[in-house]
Amino acid sequence: MKFGGTSVATLPRWKKIKELAASRRNQGARLLIVVSALSGITDALWQLSLEKNKSKRMASVGKIDARHRALLADMGVEHTTLLDTHINALCTLAESGPSQRGELVWQAQLLAHGELLSSSLGAAFLTRLGLPTQWLDARDCLSAVTLPDHNERVRLLSAIVDTRFDQTLDKRLCNLGDVLITQGFIACGNNGQTVLLGRGGSDTSASYFGALLKAIRVEIWTDVAGMFTANPRQVPGARLLRKLDYEEAQEIATTGAKVLHPRCLSPLREPRVPLLIQDTRRPELEGTLIGPQVHAHATSVKAISARNGITLVSMESVGMWKQVGFLADVFEYFRRHGLSVDLIGSAETNVTVSLDSNENLLNSNALAALGSDLAKVCRVKVIAPCAAITLVGRGMRSMLHRLSGVLAEFDQLRVHLISQSSNNLNLTFVVDEDVVDGLIPRLHELLITSGALRADDSALFGASWESVYGEDKADVSKAWWHKPAARSRLLALGMEVTPRYVYHLPTVRAQARTLKTLTVVDRLHYAVKANTHPAILHALAEEGFALECVSPGELDRATAVVPDDVPLLFTPNFASREDLKRGLASRATLTLDALYPVAHWSELFRGREIVLRVDLGRGLGHHEKVRTGGNGSKFGLPIEHIDNFLHHADTHDIVVRGLHAHLGSGVLDPNHWGEVYGQLASLAERIGSITFLNIGGGLGVPSHPGEAPLDIEALDKVLREVKMAYPHYHLWMEPGRYLVADAGVLLTRVTQIKGKGAWRYLGVDTGMNSLLRPALYGAWHEIVNLSRLEEEADGLFQIVGPICENGDVLGSDRRLPEPQEGDVMLIAQVGAYGKVMSSSYNLRGDTEEVVLKN
Ligand code: LLP
Repeated sequence: MKFGGTSVATLPRWKKIKELAASRRNQGARLLIVVSALSGITDALWQLSLEKNKSKRMASVGKIDARHRALLADMGVEHTTLLDTHINALCTLAESGPSQRGELVWQAQLLAHGELLSSSLGAAFLTRLGLPTQWLDARDCLSAVTLPDHNERVRLLSAIVDTRFDQTLDKRLCNLGDVLITQGFIACGNNGQTVLLGRGGSDTSASYFGALLKAIRVEIWTDVAGMFTANPRQVPGARLLRKLDYEEAQEIATTGAKVLHPRCLSPLREPRVPLLIQDTRRPELEGTLIGPQVHAHATSVKAISARNGITLVSMESVGMWKQVGFLADVFEYFRRHGLSVDLIGSAETNVTVSLDSNENLLNSNALAALGSDLAKVCRVKVIAPCAAITLVGRGMRSMLHRLSGVLAEFDQLRVHLISQSSNNLNLTFVVDEDVVDGLIPRLHELLITSGALRADDSALFGASWESVYGEDKADVSKAWWHKPAARSRLLALGMEVTPRYVYHLPTVRAQARTLKTLTVVDRLHYAVKANTHPAILHALAEEGFALECVSPGELDRATAVVPDDVPLLFTPNFASREDLKRGLASRATLTLDALYPVAHWSELFRGREIVLRVDLGRGLGHHEKVRTGGNGSKFGLPIEHIDNFLHHADTHDIVVRGLHAHLGSGVLDPNHWGEVYGQLASLAERIGSITFLNIGGGLGVPSHPGEAPLDIEALDKVLREVKMAYPHYHLWMEPGRYLVADAGVLLTRVTQIKGKGAWRYLGVDTGMNSLLRPALYGAWHEIVNLSRLEEEADGLFQIVGPICENGDVLGSDRRLPEPQEGDVMLIAQVGAYGKVMSSSYNLRGDTEEVVLKN
């Protein structure tokens, strides 16, 4: 068990170590505890080693001594000879300075004292708490090997240890006791001197010991539960990786994750010793297990990472074509300037390679010198700063077909290099550094929605980072249903009948009024597909909204509910001839988005005014399935068919009065509608007969914790700017979700709880039959236990329904209070595309709807 600097710095943390060690001991294991120095001590020793002034060095030793003695006092240990011995040795070293021994030898000895001291404290404390613990000097066990290319600095400060299984060591340790504590980071050099193991050295020590002893397991106890599918700082929804094989873990550690030093995996591979990463503060979290065991699973991308600070060197030469030895010549220059190459792409006349700044400690001198050398044999271009985005997963080449959505994201970007590792474990894209921050969260989401990262495989993927560590999620306290009066009404409704949708009309009206502040929009239509409840149509008509319908059924509902003077739009897609006839027979304005109807059924439209929906060539929205533009989407007339369409219209006396585009749903960037508006306006200029432009709906609401709402003022500003350029067109919009999403909640009751391995399923009395969005889009909806809103949310649950589909999951990895059968659960933000998308699957019956007028 290895514990890092923060894990050994305070008394509470040491108590945790005691608990963990005792629990392993109770399982019958013999233990070797490997510790780092107290946090900050290695740095202090490093500073000390640079200090020329002896009395300042002695003062630093004084501080280090005091820090350890204070912790010792906290621990309730009066005195330990070991600590005294090491402090005295440290004093002597500080006093003498580097003179007699050589600077690096002295530095290594000095720095080793961080671990010598912390392990001395640990031995005393654990023993005092009743876990007899023997102190062991790591230098008696780990012997460094010297490789031919190792200079003195590497030999002394970044040494490598021989890890062939050593039976005598095992025996020796066995004789010492069942619980031993030793130091990370240090080993014995071939002359018997102290050497260090470099960056990440304590993890590496633990691995060396694990390999030498053929341990049951190496456990790395740190500040985070393990490796995640992406850097949680960039992607809060990143999922814990529960199991990895050595090679995958190595790739992830090398290309991004900082939790484990890449160096500490290779010693464990051959003896097949598993390594477990866990969080010292939260030992109940399962962690990441790295081992030889996991090939049986279906292939999946495991992680996406980004490394900044990449420099590309592109070498172009016509002369290299089929020229023997060209690469050898070129790489010789890299070697000469001490630059190690990471990725390589080659063509007949070009070789491009990447240099990793971390490994190379790039300085512009080395690069400039390389450049002038290379210029002798080819044309050189240095491209920087770049970032390498890497997808990691065993069997990458067999997953390519699932990556189309991911690849599409690179559409607008300059991709400088693509490299697929020959071990089939990674696929890397090198792009400009400044695009990475926004890109990684999107790519992570796309990997999940496309099924390339099989987040539903609970054997491989655990909880999301935000569900485990996130600050308390979405700010739900402002929601209408959170107010005490609403809560008690909802509770009463939930106790009566579930499942049940409840809609809050004041919220619908408030959203409508916000949209009415858009000064240049001449007509707002409510896209009734989002929620066709008559009370909602009625309220919105009262607020001055027109309605947009997509089927004869919606038209019937609209005409039945709202007064005759409320304008209607009919915007069907792939509608039959019959549907179109019915639309034309109503008072709705018809929108067409295909050639076929005007080419084959032209007599239907003769003498009529219609709207033409165009495809602007791209889609947008919260999920691939709701993006309604581009060749992958069935909506809209491609721009190149417009002339043909107009020709048919002309021939049959059909007037195209309006232009329409709707690129997708759940958009939060106000600039989007400005772009659509501008594009439609410039098309309209060409057509001539157009009097209005409908720039669609798609206005999003924040649907994930931390997402910022659509800025309506900014939208107004964007639209005003376009209006100035094209003042002669009327402007229409047709939002759905924005008006109704937050107004609706779904009430459902807890039926039972089931544990399965580390997972806990919370069953409720409805599922994807009532609310399809989580299953269809992986949509995230806030879920709360309304019966226990004030209780501590300390359990982690998968909220599932009763439908016979494995995808019948309403929410994954949710922190909730301990539930009881019959509790009323509330699923939020389901006013849009909730009930309207429900089904009678499994004959589960209809979900009722209740409207709250105030
Ligand atoms: N106009 C047209 C032509 C549309 O197709 C849609 C939505 C809208 C307007 C309204 O979009 P909104 O403002 O509501 O985003 N079921 C998906 C959404 C599908 C949207 C379909 N079309 C979901 O639950 O997210």
